[in-house]
Amino acid sequence: MPADNAAAWDRAAAAYLAVTELPTDVAHYGPDIGTEADFRLLGDLKGKRVLELGCGAAQNSIAFAKQGAIAIGVDLSAEMLAHARRLADQEEVRVELRHGDMADLAFMRAESVDLVFSACAFGFVDDLSRVFRQVHRVLRTGAPLVFSLPHPAYHLIDGRHADQPLLVRRSYFDTEAVDIERFGAIFTRYHHSIADLHTALVRSSFSVDTILEPAPTSSGPRSTDWQEAFRFVPRTLVIRARKEGN
Ligand SMILES: C[S@@+](CC[C@H](N)C(=O)[O-])C[C@H]1O[C@@H](n2cnc3c(N)ncnc32)[C@H](O)[C@@H]1O
Repeated sequence: MPADNAAAWDRAAAAYLAVTELPTDVAHYGPDIGTEADFRLLGDLKGKRVLELGCGAAQNSIAFAKQGAIAIGVDLSAEMLAHARRLADQEEVRVELRHGDMADLAFMRAESVDLVFSACAFGFVDDLSRVFRQVHRVLRTGAPLVFSLPHPAYHLIDGRHADQPLLVRRSYFDTEAVDIERFGAIFTRYHHSIADLHTALVRSSFSVDTILEPAPTSSGPRSTDWQEAFRFVPRTLVIRARKEGN
């Protein structure tokens, strides 16, 4: 039985946010890697309608709103959204927040969105094809879906023990979901290979124009779960796809 990820995020929200220091003036893609200031995948957001899936405390949506976007964030966790509401008030920007599953975007009109974005949330979703079909419906033709998720190679290693040799502890071809304990809660994480992601995107009528496997930034403060192994194995995968016609 998979874990109840919504309940897990409700339980974990405060602890997660206490250790993740996320910017609210530029979009982030994951821990210990560059930001949108480095990757430049989103373009000018002024006046654009931007939908963020799995927005958490909405730091990215707040950054989009500061750049003049009409920002909408969706998340499964009411607790995360409560943090998002407080943060948006504190930062004095307007973000429309929706409580729900990213695979159900019925509240958005077809072809009404200029960018769909998601950071570090797709790894908690089993059926990404369903999400891609919904995203395809709401995006304007030619508009981008930009997302980051754990790199599938990162599932293979356990680099927590710096004194031990870096070992492959799991097969790349093992697609079983994994339960992990973090921030006092149990989550189910899903393994999405690059080929599976590409196939699901193409079948949902997207074309992929960018795949990034960023190395860690060479300096700067590290995240609390930093491991030396991240110098050898990519931790985050970033993809930009564009909606093709139906
Ligand atoms: C690791 S947090 C990332 C939050 C935020 N994007 C960030 O970068 O800090 C993952 C988020 O995805 C949300 N999430 C997981 N599955 C979801 C789903 N099916 N629909 C909507 N949100 C989901 C969780 O509630 C959680 O807030």
